[in-house]
Amino acid sequence: MESARLDDGIRSTDGFAAHARVSAVRLGYIQDPFVSLFVPRARNLPTHAPLINIGTYVRTTSIDQLVESFLTAGSPEVKRQIVSVGAGSDTRFWRLSTGPLQNAVARYVELDFPEITTKKAMSIRKSTQLSSVLGSDVKVVKGGTGITSAVYHLLPVDLRQSVEMTLEPLVASETPILSPDLPTLFLAECVLVYMTPESSASIMSFFSRTFKNAFGIIYEMFSLGDSFGRVMRDNLRVRNVELPGAEAFPNLDSIRNRFLSAGYTAAEALPLSVIRREYVSGTETQRIAKLELVDEYEELELVLAHYALAWGSKLEDSLSPDLEAEFRAWGLKSQYPENRARNSGETV
Ligand SMILES: C[S@@+](CC[C@H](N)C(=O)[O-])C[C@H]1O[C@@H](n2cnc3c(N)ncnc32)[C@H](O)[C@@H]1O
Repeated sequence: MESARLDDGIRSTDGFAAHARVSAVRLGYIQDPFVSLFVPRARNLPTHAPLINIGTYVRTTSIDQLVESFLTAGSPEVKRQIVSVGAGSDTRFWRLSTGPLQNAVARYVELDFPEITTKKAMSIRKSTQLSSVLGSDVKVVKGGTGITSAVYHLLPVDLRQSVEMTLEPLVASETPILSPDLPTLFLAECVLVYMTPESSASIMSFFSRTFKNAFGIIYEMFSLGDSFGRVMRDNLRVRNVELPGAEAFPNLDSIRNRFLSAGYTAAEALPLSVIRREYVSGTETQRIAKLELVDEYEELELVLAHYALAWGSKLEDSLSPDLEAEFRAWGLKSQYPENRARNSGETV
């Protein structure tokens, strides 16, 4: 059936993302001791071209920065909740839970298709390195397609279904996993582009209307109407991957408006090309430049200009002025103009 073929295509993108992480970790762009535990025969996967590794570096580290500043803004007393929609084989929960911010997270929920969550649940159960992080109260749920524990919850859903079926049970069941009172971040890393703008709008609106203080991060391709974008789409189509969510977001303004029309009151969006040039520190830029020889900077710019990172927030009226100021300042921190001189001579 056509829809089954297309859904298989969507699920296969988790393999692309995981493979990109394996390659970037192997070459030293990013550190992630957990990635290979989710990827069968990771050692046998080929290493990607520098251009893809640099993209993975910028994507991963800038999302890390946003997540970390969400967890550290305001009072450390107030714990936070994170919901990763379309989490795939992402390792962020394990990286956070073994790092300095491990006590900042009250709940970490990962949602994906049952085919993906089943594989992830099996990887977690097979690995003591992964399962030990979840603590002692771990339960396999929903016929092996999910896992629950004190903090971490892995659950199977098709996010295109109505939020009454997929997301509301997280707050509205007899034993709710999430509290509307805690600051809550939804993370959609290369996910919403695989569904219609209507489906993704209802996911985003769910978070802004349900949580007193709601935050969101979206990372995905955009501006695919030009010739390079059409090539990207054609390459994906060959692998049965369609992008029904791409056309509605041709530029950065449309991405910011996406947040505003879903009930958020502040939003920002940047292409990865700008993040690489202006938001990566000088020390990191020099370190990355030594990892691999890059001679196709124009192509790197072109690729990175077709991916955007966006973040938005909605705050309650009665927040204390201190907390409000810190939450309002949430976002990537530019290294400009420190980086201006460096980039005019182009090193990375
Ligand atoms: C490109 S992968 C990204 C995975 C992860 N967020 C990361 O960045 O490593 C996209 C993921 O979104 C999931 N996904 C896409 N559409 C979905 C839907 N309608 N319901 C549940 N999961 C979905 C896919 O199964 C896949 O795991």
